[in-house]
Amino acid sequence: MTKVVAKEFPVLGAGLGLRRSMHNEEITAAAVDFLEVAPENWIGVGGRYGRWLREYTERFPFVIHGLSLSIGAPTALDETLVKSIKQFIKDHDIRCYSEHLSYCSDHGHLYDLLPIPFTEEAVRYVAARIRRVQDILEQQIAMENVSYYAAPGQEMDEISFLNAVLEEADCGLLLDVNNIYVNAINHRYDPLEFLNQLPTERIRYAHVAGHFDEAEDLKVDTHGAPVIDPVWHLLEQAYARHGPVPTLLERDFNIPPIVELLGEVMHIRSIQAQYSDFSPAGIPTVNHELAYVKNRA
Ligand SMILES: [Fe+2]
Repeated sequence: MTKVVAKEFPVLGAGLGLRRSMHNEEITAAAVDFLEVAPENWIGVGGRYGRWLREYTERFPFVIHGLSLSIGAPTALDETLVKSIKQFIKDHDIRCYSEHLSYCSDHGHLYDLLPIPFTEEAVRYVAARIRRVQDILEQQIAMENVSYYAAPGQEMDEISFLNAVLEEADCGLLLDVNNIYVNAINHRYDPLEFLNQLPTERIRYAHVAGHFDEAEDLKVDTHGAPVIDPVWHLLEQAYARHGPVPTLLERDFNIPPIVELLGEVMHIRSIQAQYSDFSPAGIPTVNHELAYVKNRA
């Protein structure tokens, strides 16, 4: 079994999801500490957009957030995709690869991400696939807690399932604060209690995003609106518990002028600044380089 222990955060500060539609915008290192893209949208892209991405990956620390690994799917793992991602990580000096703890029906659109049954069998199945991905990549990946709207065949609660997968796969966590907020309302649990049970030492970075209010008791994770105050407050509670982990603003639809997004990135920074001297037990040392210790036993 491969044991992978991350010693440090892959990036620092406040980040922004980079979208192709931003190609006419000016994003400076003074405004944003790191950037994220979906590798599936960029692998093999050359020409004008390829050069544009290269310019940014040379100037900024980058993380990638995959869409179509489909880690929970019953079909064979797409090792060709994993190998392409490995090359992309190398080509662009990517600091961390994260994916969704879910599966997609047939393509990687956000709305097609389906929940994995919260069962012991699924923990073992998914963890084995995550370990296989880490073995191919020769590095640890981070799995994201996802939003879900149904929980088929549930044997355990969401937090127990998530923690069991992280432990068994020995992988990192991409902490999505908006997803906790949305799930807590849709599935009627206490978001703070969920937050407090997450393993601090496994958090690699966080996501914050806006969502859509379908109804008072139904929120849909669209990434198409500004972050709302209760989610900002939950992010602050995450920092109070786990320290000011690197945090990225996701915005996939209804993308406003860049100045509005940068205002939200600044807001992340201002909350982080309130917790800048916070050092919880077990939190990794903050550094731009991520070191891995690998033991084969
Ligand atoms: Fe996310």
